[in-house]
Formats: sequence, C-alpha cells, structure tokens
Amino acid sequence: MSLQGKRIVVGLGGGIAAFKAVELVRELMRRGAEVRVVMTEAATHFVGPITFAGLTGKPAVTDLWAEDYAGEVHVELGDWADAIVIAPATMNLMARASSGQANDAVLATLACARGDVFFAPAMHARMWSHPAMQSNIQTLRARGAVVLGPVTGPLANGEIGEGRMMEPEDIAEAIESHLVHSDDLSGSRILITAGPTHEDLDPVRYLGNRSSGRMGYAIASRAQHRGAEVTIVSGPVHLPVPSGAEVVRVRSAEEMHAAVMSRFEHFDVVIMAAAVADYRPERRATRKIKKGKSLKLELVRNPDILADVGAKRARRPSVLVGFALETENLEQSARDKLERKAADLIVANEASAGLGGDTNRATLVDAATATPLPEMTKRALADQVLDRVRTLLNNSSQRSRLETEHEAPN
Ligand code: CTP
Repeated sequence: MSLQGKRIVVGLGGGIAAFKAVELVRELMRRGAEVRVVMTEAATHFVGPITFAGLTGKPAVTDLWAEDYAGEVHVELGDWADAIVIAPATMNLMARASSGQANDAVLATLACARGDVFFAPAMHARMWSHPAMQSNIQTLRARGAVVLGPVTGPLANGEIGEGRMMEPEDIAEAIESHLVHSDDLSGSRILITAGPTHEDLDPVRYLGNRSSGRMGYAIASRAQHRGAEVTIVSGPVHLPVPSGAEVVRVRSAEEMHAAVMSRFEHFDVVIMAAAVADYRPERRATRKIKKGKSLKLELVRNPDILADVGAKRARRPSVLVGFALETENLEQSARDKLERKAADLIVANEASAGLGGDTNRATLVDAATATPLPEMTKRALADQVLDRVRTLLNNSSQRSRLETEHEAPN
C-alpha cells in the first residue's frame, strides 16, 4: 500500500483512452490512494460518471454548475489533492491548460492545484508531433507539470505510432515514485553547478559549448522536490528556476569557481553538473576585435572547480559528485577522475549520447562499484543520482557518528 494516505484527483479528457482511466483509478486505489474523479463533458461520452462514483464512493465531478456542488468544488479538490493526473490528456485539453483556461471542471481544478500535476497524453501520432502540441507541452513542463508518455504502439485507428496513453499500471508507478520520494532529502543543503560557461574574447564574442543546463536543473528540481535546500550556481542558460531554489548566476569558469569556492563549506552535498570550459582566452579585448586575414588565439587553463573542492574539503561537503563525458574506457576514465578530483561519485555519460538532448545514458561510478543505467530522461537520471547521494549521505553520517563515539572520552 505504497500510496497509503495520498489523495489523488484523476481528471479525464474526452478521448477513446478514457476507458483506461477506470483501471487507473482502481490501480491507484489498490496502492492505497484516496481518489476523486473530475471529467470534461466530452469525457462523459466515452465512459459514464456512475462507473467512477461506484469505484470511488464519491460522485465524479462533471459540471461546476451542478447543484450537488454548492461551494467551490474545484478549489476544494485543488486544495485536497497531493497530485492531479490528467488521463487521458487530449491535445485540446492540454492546449487549454497551457493557455490557462479554466472553463470546465477539469481545467478549473488544475488551475487550483497545490500538489503535483501529471499529464498522460493520448492522441494520434500526428497530433502529438504537431508543433502547437509540442510547444504547449514545453509550457506545461516549464511550469512544473510531469508528462508521462505517450508511448509508441497501436493507436485508436489501428496505426502504429507515438501517441498511445501509457498503461494505467505504469502511470500509477510513475506517480508513486514521484510522490513517495518526497522529503527523503529534507534537512540537506545541496549546491549544484549547471550549464555551460562563456569565456569572453571581446565585448561581443565568447567561447562556449552546447550544454543546455537541463541535467543540472533537473537535479535541482528533483532535490528541491525531495525536500533539500537547493542552490544552483548557473552558467548562462534560459531555464526556469525550480520554485524555492536559490540561483547564483555566473558567466565564466572563473566566476563559477569563485561562487562555488566561497560557498561549498556550507553544503552537505555538492554536485558539479556544469560543463565548465577547460580554457579561456589569455586576454579579453576591451574593444571588439576587428577582422584581419587570420586570428591567433592563445588559451590558458581555467581552474578545475571540482578538483579544487575535492582538495580543500574538510568536513563539508560530505558528498561530492562530478560528471564526466567520455568517449572510451568509460568506467576506467571515470574512476581515474573520481580519484584525481577526490569525488565520491562520478556520473559518466557516453559522449555518443551528445550534449543537449532530453535523455541520457550514464554509468554511476563510485569507489567500489560501477552501475550502468539504461537510457532515461534527465529527470529520471536526476532521481537515480539523488538516490545514490542519499545513500552516501547516510554512510557518511554513520561514519562521523562512529568517529565521534570513538573520540568521546569515557
Ligand atoms: N569541472 C570543473 N571545473 C572545470 C572542468 C570540469 O568543475 N574547469 C567538473 C565538471 O563540472 C564535471 C567534471 O569536472 O563535474 C568533469 O569534467 P571533465 O572536463 O570531464 O574532467 P577532466 O578531468 O577535465 O576530463 P578530461 O581530462 O577527460 O578532459
């Protein structure tokens, strides 16, 4: 009964996959959740509200004007729910949600959500790949919603494509792993570096790299969600800052170095996800460099922030995590880096996966083990890294307790 005590609103849009919402409600209840259902008018054409009333013991809300709901049922449900999951989420429903409309029971409840919001899209593959749909999805994600699926498989008309709603059991599983992690990092302070650095050549030009910053921000968002106090030292990126996190904006490797070195001793965990430029131009021209026949640049080494924290750390941080992008000998190179930079964990990415995508394939390397993970979203990888961080934190607090006991006079 892993969702014991959790309150979940299931909101249905009008799509053929609505029949699967019946199984979703049952699955959530089987796991111990208390469930309420809201439906758009269109959804009632696919499955009857009575079915849900029978399952949950509460009427399904279909119409904000119905007399049974004296008061503001959408506000009440928004307050009540730990999570709201829209399944099936149709193209139309998500377009309306992304533009902030609240003209039916499902959207009005979403607008009042206090807890986490999940969408399980279901539509034809061409609708899913439509630019309007994709930009609405980005908007919803940027506001913190979690999009589950869709998956590739047979669609309503028999074609095979990406647009099929995730199976109810998988949706329940994803919601559970999202909700039950909450708070397991509470009381820890975590510093995360993210994004690229820009090394200025002159007032208008710089050397940089293609890092999007999404991996670091995903870790920040998940750590925040799991109860940690989070500070992001961020290179130049345009990503929403997870609500509640502190952000320190920097531009160059030297600025990032200064920001981290002046702070790291106050943190239990430091995670270096930034793609720091290894070199910077020896001189930064004060005026724009005029073009000539050719241009020779002299580059000098930047400080290695991870290695410096590794070398200077005493009691804090208890856990130091670095990233590595490797093209060959992944495990061995990562292990060398682990030792050289005195880190506790290296998240080693295969360079073939490239920078800037939505997914990552990584191997987690610590002093004793190397764990290859399958390809997964950056958000899922963030949780895997944080699971490991939590274990390392527990080990280190056990160690320091034993040391204190050992040192204490009898
Ligand atoms: N890093 C850092 N400061 C730098 C360079 C890298 O803090 N100046 C951190 C990155 O944030 C990352 C880790 O170090 O966590 C790995 O960086 P990478 O460039 O792969 O390490 P190197 O030892 O420079 O690797 P290589 O020798 O293979 O280039």
